[in-house]
Formats: sequence, C-alpha cells, structure tokens
Amino acid sequence: MSKGLFITLEGGEGAGKSTQLAYIRQRIEDAGISLHVTREPGGTPLAEEIRVLLLGQRDEAMIPDTELLLMFAARAQHLAQRIRPALARGDWVLCDRFTDATYAYQGGGRGIDFARIAVLEDWVQGELRPDLTLLLDLPVETGMARAGQRGDLDRFEHEPRDFFEHVRAAYRARVEQEPGRFRIIDAAQDIAGVQRQIDAVLASLLATGESA
Ligand SMILES: Nc1ncnc2c1ncn2[C@@H]1O[C@H](COP(=O)(O)OP(=O)(O)OP(=O)(O)O)[C@@H](O)[C@H]1O
Ligand SMILES: [Mg+2]
Repeated sequence: MSKGLFITLEGGEGAGKSTQLAYIRQRIEDAGISLHVTREPGGTPLAEEIRVLLLGQRDEAMIPDTELLLMFAARAQHLAQRIRPALARGDWVLCDRFTDATYAYQGGGRGIDFARIAVLEDWVQGELRPDLTLLLDLPVETGMARAGQRGDLDRFEHEPRDFFEHVRAAYRARVEQEPGRFRIIDAAQDIAGVQRQIDAVLASLLATGESA
C-alpha cells in the first residue's frame, strides 16, 4: 500500500504557523495531491476537547506531568482516528504542531526530562515520525508581539518570556539531533519572504513526491 507524506509545522507563539499552513495547503492541493490538514493538540472531536482542557485557564494549576500525558492522550486519539488512516490511504498529512512541540514546551518550557517524553513518543507513535518538519524560527520577542495582537491569551501565552526562550532553544536542539528531517525557516521575515522560503522546500518535495 502506498503511504502518504507526513509533514509537520512547528515554531513558537506567533511564528506564523497557522498563516503559512493555508499557503502550504494550497500549494500541495494545486499539485493534485490529496491532503489532510489538521492540528495538535486536537484534530478529532475528542482530541479537541482535550485541547480545551490544555489551553483553558482555571484556578487549579495543571502540573507538568498532567499536561504531558494529556498531550499524548490527544495524540493517541488523533493518530488512530485521523493521521494513520490518512497516510494509509496514501494521502499526505499536514499538521500544525506535533511531537516536537511536546519536546519544546513540556520538555524545554516545563523542564520535563526529554528521555521521559521519548518513552511516551515510542509508546504512542510506535515507529511513526514526521517525514518532514518545517521549523518557523524567530526571536521570542517578535513572536510574542505578533501573538499579542491577536487578543485573548491561552494558558501557554501567559508564560513569562524565559519560558519561550527555553521553548525556542529546545526546538533548535531537536534540529541538531535530526537535521535530515527539519528545514529551518526564518520566520522573522515578512509573510512573502517566509512563503519564498517555503516554496524552495516544497519545490523539490512536489517534484519528487517524496521527502526532499
Ligand atoms: N511573517 C509575518 N510577518 C508579520 N506578521 C505575521 C507574519 N506571519 C504571521 N503574522 C501575523 O502574526 C500573527 C500570528 O500568526 P499565526 O497565528 O499564523 O502564528 P502561529 O504560529 O499560528 O501562532 P500560535 O502558535 O499562537 O498558534 C497573526 O496576526 C498573523 O497575521
Ligand atoms: Mg496557530
């Protein structure tokens, strides 16, 4: 059975993931490829309910382990119900955030040992990993200023600047560990500039239909 390509989009708050997701979707669909576009946490009705638990504000503090386990609970549901079936059909999957975000936020940001996250990754995903990950990288200040303009802040967006510096550092450490899977995009450029970089990555991908 042919297997589709699994592409993820990563980066800190306000990096432009949701903005560029629409652009990437258009480019891939224009190439005649059947694509499932989704996001994490979420992607199924139940996983979206878990997203609400994760992002909502409440009086009781959510401890880091609860946060980590809810992320993987949502991911297990998403993988079984949406991602694996789509890939098995031969569709491509484009996902706004995936497990690299767990390493960045729950690992880098909250300080959970990366090795513990890796145990859950193996458990929930088995062998499945993204084929290609675009990391939209930009200074924390720039991203926070962009996200701040959007209005209501979620539970993560209330974290101090230091938290997001750790998130960014953890993302970059992921790239160093798996340079073949990642493409770093300079997300501080204007929208057209970011799109040009994305075009360069997609060009080879859409030409071959395989990971560049
Ligand atoms: N390259 C860019 N230059 C300037 N503004 C941008 C750029 N890309 C996106 N924006 C704007 O910044 C804001 C955040 O963008 P977007 O929602 O796409 O980020 P995101 O990475 O999805 O953030 P989050 O992680 O919070 O979901 C939006 O108002 C968007 O219009
Ligand atoms: Mg977004």
